[in-house]
Amino acid sequence: MVDFATLKDDFPILSQQVNGKRLCYLDSAASSQKPQAVLEALQAAYGETYANVHRGLHYLSEASTDAYEAVRQKVAGLINAPSPNEVIFTSGATMSLNLIAQCWGSANLSSGDEILITIAEHHANIVPWQMIAERTGAKLVAAPMGADGEYDDEAFSALITERTKVISIPHVSNVLGTVFPLKNISKKARSVGALFVVDGCQGVVHMPVDVQEIDCDFYVFSGHKLYGPSGIGVCWGKHDILSDMPPFLGGGDMIDDVEIERSTYADVPARFEAGTPPIAECIGLGAAIDYVQSIGMAEIHAHEQNLIRYGMQRLSEVEGLNFIGTAAGKSGVISFTLDEVHPHDISTLIDHEGVAIRAGHHCAQPLMKSLGLSSTARASVGLYNSADDFDVLVNALHKVNRIFKS
Ligand code: ALA
Repeated sequence: MVDFATLKDDFPILSQQVNGKRLCYLDSAASSQKPQAVLEALQAAYGETYANVHRGLHYLSEASTDAYEAVRQKVAGLINAPSPNEVIFTSGATMSLNLIAQCWGSANLSSGDEILITIAEHHANIVPWQMIAERTGAKLVAAPMGADGEYDDEAFSALITERTKVISIPHVSNVLGTVFPLKNISKKARSVGALFVVDGCQGVVHMPVDVQEIDCDFYVFSGHKLYGPSGIGVCWGKHDILSDMPPFLGGGDMIDDVEIERSTYADVPARFEAGTPPIAECIGLGAAIDYVQSIGMAEIHAHEQNLIRYGMQRLSEVEGLNFIGTAAGKSGVISFTLDEVHPHDISTLIDHEGVAIRAGHHCAQPLMKSLGLSSTARASVGLYNSADDFDVLVNALHKVNRIFKS
């Protein structure tokens, strides 16, 4: 039985005071804080085993390569991938989605083809597809969401046709918290032979993920949202699909043989990892995976679902507060507005109480526009949050109301 109340102590940054108040960090959807185990892994990667990977025959290079490659297996274990060789390290989910769009899209998309996303995407799952659509003549199509921010199966299904070549959706919306029914959508993708891509940024951090059960073709995520370092991310893809894809970036490590006239390329995963990778960050990601697995993703999910329920209940006491996204089973984030108060003002004022939330468009401008909003305030949870973080937030919001309404 995990005692979540003690986990905050694993995160040194959370013990500090901000503006003379206990730091109440409710911005993990933007980036999560790092446990001591990750900080120590980074220190050891630079202080004990650092050398370039895949290039040296000396002790340190081999130690560094072993530590780096061991993380592939940890990622495969986390998401139940059939093989560590299907795990490609990138700089983050944004790079992963650009990789898929450019490498798969350039080889497989043409005029008349359609790429189906939803209006609830963050920009990383919109712009890369727009760019490849412009290059290939394909069309980007966005399905609407339901009135409460829920997945709208009828509207989504109506947009799937024989022209649909890619379906790329979030596991969890970073604004609405809506959890998408991945297995259901996978079946729809299979029925028309479309590639099925899952942007797992806000999914893998909150719940167990099994890519074989989901039956997706790609699942991508960022290390920095999973309590790991920034600058490292994952693009998991099915081996046969990856093997047929041309590379995205050229350079060292991704080649087999190079001549001035032409080059041949390495097998996956090396084919997609040109240049010196973020070695220490990758090792730090491995430590983050060990950390969350030592707690258990199912336990983290249950803890956070309780927090979201409690947070919704407490926030509903705040006068003039409107929830943005109330889908059943929502996860990770609570977005809201407050009558007559701009979200930026909310964020600035509650920062004086030590509370960190995000306010803005959350890198999801099309969703904001569809909601008739320019921004929202958003509280998001990590495994280290507790009910009293929402108590502090609610008291701070009462204060904001008093300031604006007096
Ligand atoms: N996509 C990240 C967020 O939701 C940055 O804040």
